[in-house]
Amino acid sequence: MSDKKSIHGIWASRWVFIMAATGSAVGLGNIWKFPYITGVNGGGAFVLVYLICVALIGLPILMAEIMVGRRGRQSPVNSLIDVASESNGSTLWQLIGWVGAVAGLLIFGFYSVVAGWILEYAVEMGSGTFNGSNMEQVGNIFNALLADPGKMLIWHTIFTVLTMAIVVKGVNEGLERGVRILMPILFVLLVVAFGYGVSSGHFADAWHFMFDFEPSKLTAKAVLSALGHAFFTLSLGMGTMIAYGSYMTQKASIGSTAVLVVFLDTAVALIAGLAIFPIVFANQMDPGQGPGLMLVTLPVAFGNIALGQLFGTLFFILVGIAAWTSSISLMEPSVAFVVEKFKLNRLQACLVLGGLGWVLGVGALLSFNKGSDILIFGKNFFDFLDYVTANIMLPLGGMFIALFAGWVVKTRISREEMSITPLAHQLWLILVRFIAPVLVLIVFIYNLLQ
Ligand code: TRP
Repeated sequence: MSDKKSIHGIWASRWVFIMAATGSAVGLGNIWKFPYITGVNGGGAFVLVYLICVALIGLPILMAEIMVGRRGRQSPVNSLIDVASESNGSTLWQLIGWVGAVAGLLIFGFYSVVAGWILEYAVEMGSGTFNGSNMEQVGNIFNALLADPGKMLIWHTIFTVLTMAIVVKGVNEGLERGVRILMPILFVLLVVAFGYGVSSGHFADAWHFMFDFEPSKLTAKAVLSALGHAFFTLSLGMGTMIAYGSYMTQKASIGSTAVLVVFLDTAVALIAGLAIFPIVFANQMDPGQGPGLMLVTLPVAFGNIALGQLFGTLFFILVGIAAWTSSISLMEPSVAFVVEKFKLNRLQACLVLGGLGWVLGVGALLSFNKGSDILIFGKNFFDFLDYVTANIMLPLGGMFIALFAGWVVKTRISREEMSITPLAHQLWLILVRFIAPVLVLIVFIYNLLQ
């Protein structure tokens, strides 16, 4: 065991770590992104590949990240340096942490804009704007929002401030207190939304769409987005879980804790799908319409049923909270790093990094209107941020973390730190040494060849 302590603090208990890690994992990825990319990629086959990626790649890499963090007890960059040195490995592995910090900011750039839409929707829903509306009207409202940089800027700014307000308070006063309050609310609201989806729509159609396996729908692109999404939804590949692991108590078992976080995250994604698709099918909407899926379909549904205004408002508040507990984890790794490296205090670090994230978000929200003809590799800035992070940086970052944990960290150290049975440790080693890296590589090469 190592007796190092993090200068940033420590979670009060294993349970708080689980709430924080689940709070990070469960976010727009589960509720907004998972249903719409499932729709775009045709349903069942995509869901199956996603579940396989979560189990064979996501879970072992989640354990690897937590292990590295708890061993290093610092921000991702410095944990990687220390853990590498302890095993006589190259300190170049710290590059994963640097690239990860950049990835976190890039993700924040589009994440905060989407979170802003959600907040706007919560207000519109609450004030009755969607009552009695049809698809066309809601579609127009969404498009009008995208065409209105000023409105998006206000919400994006509010969301950035909300995020940094928690991060600036630090691990115990900020992150921990935030998740302790927000996660139980999130859970209750989710159950309400699910019950509503089951009772109000075409549940059986949704079930078949999500779980019937049709191999013909399995394209290379679908497999890559399933892989990328496994990383995105579990907050892997950029150091979030290294940072969160560095605040974990020494007693907690990394194996069982990681299994629980993966289970909860996957459950929320599937429940979100089963809440949204029944409504989609009940109203003959197109499941493959893209990022607007939740924003165009749900208001129509909520706007046309009894108590819809209330439940719709609750639902968007739920998504906003989920986004909030995730976005703090996008910022925490780089804030912790800047505090360690440049001897800034948290406030200064938050101002600098929150400022950078905010600027990226301004770029993202302008890409729907004034800047829509600025294309990077054929994508507008918003899509570009999403694509490079989820489909490239996170899988590559995760692959290198797997290789690092499997090949560089001495097996004695990983076994000791994870406190799992010898058999489970052997299995984990096979997954991080061979299976996860090879699968990531295959998917990458296959996509390049297409
Ligand atoms: N997992 C979150 C979601 O599904 C997003 C997120 C938070 C994230 N922190 C991350 C994604 C770190 C990748 C890396 O919404």
